Amino acid sequence: MSAPNSDYDPVEVTPLRADEVERMRDAALEAIAAADSVEALKQVKIDHVGDRSPLALANREIGALPPQARKEVGQRVGQARGAVNKALAERTAQVEAVEFERRLAEEAVDVTVPVDMEPVGARHPLTTIQDHVADIFVAMGWEIAEGPEVEAEWLNFDALNLGPDHPARTMMDTFWVAPAEAAMVLRTHTSPVQARTMLTRQPPIYIACPGRVFRTDEPDATHAPVFHQVEGLAIDEGLSMAHLKGTLDHLATAIYGEGTTTRFRPSYFPFTEPSAEVDLLCYVCHNDPAQVADCPTCRGEGWVEWGGCGVVNPRVLIACGVDPERYSGFAFGMGLDRTITSRYDIADLRDLWDGDIRFTEPFGIGL
Ligand code: PHE
Repeated sequence: MSAPNSDYDPVEVTPLRADEVERMRDAALEAIAAADSVEALKQVKIDHVGDRSPLALANREIGALPPQARKEVGQRVGQARGAVNKALAERTAQVEAVEFERRLAEEAVDVTVPVDMEPVGARHPLTTIQDHVADIFVAMGWEIAEGPEVEAEWLNFDALNLGPDHPARTMMDTFWVAPAEAAMVLRTHTSPVQARTMLTRQPPIYIACPGRVFRTDEPDATHAPVFHQVEGLAIDEGLSMAHLKGTLDHLATAIYGEGTTTRFRPSYFPFTEPSAEVDLLCYVCHNDPAQVADCPTCRGEGWVEWGGCGVVNPRVLIACGVDPERYSGFAFGMGLDRTITSRYDIADLRDLWDGDIRFTEPFGIGL
């Protein structure tokens, strides 16, 4: 048996020699110092700290040393790796800070540079109120319906119990669309949307329809040939005038605030029976005896005209294919333009459609 080779000193395995470890460490430190971008540092990390880097490989050699040699060599390699890791972390922080500063400088926006100040525009109050009213109905579970502005004469009149010779046709001064044989009109009210809906679906029906309507009125401070209405129609089993009143009271409260009620006055519409004009309790003076006499909004009346309404005439139900024995319903229609002019004390209706941005601006860009 040969004696152990006393010359062989495993501590001196080449990659573990003190000068060799130092060389690896210095090479790593140099590479770290030279790297000037996050990208470059990534590569340095792979080369000098990664699993296949010289120091990592050296570290693996330690396990093969005799136990008495491991401690010193372990310390040597460990210190070198520690120094490299520390330098890498410091350099990374430095380079990141520099890159961050550079990005800040590059992406800086000079807020003092003059820009073209385009006017922003504003939502028209009519759009705002139409949306607001639509929201109120949707919250009650109603649907919003639409119809065309150029409408068939039959839907605008006949289906609504306004036959060709009905005297009430003259109540609505109508724009006829050429050629006459086409029998088309600019709709005089939103009520044809009722007929369209009943003709295409079965009850229960709960719809609201805000929209533009046309009549041959000379424009003046209180009349316009184009104006806006919102129509409501409910058809179901067992609906009565009481449901109509409740719905309108809710609508009044939702638009004008708590305590705003409605009153009915007997009236006539061919498509409803019975029919009523609906008035709104004056939302300025609330018909308060101490104020009403001087109230500019209701002019001493205590009530403001709002629209027309009634229980749907069975003749309309029949014309539109709804069984009047089983179903009944109510309908109402009110002007939106006057709602705005009276609400905001606008003296001249024409301001609403002049298109002057100075008029709409104070209403803001409300959503
Ligand atoms: N369409 C009627 C008008 O424009 C209003 C109305 C609608 C009346 C529905 C009763 C029922 O004057």
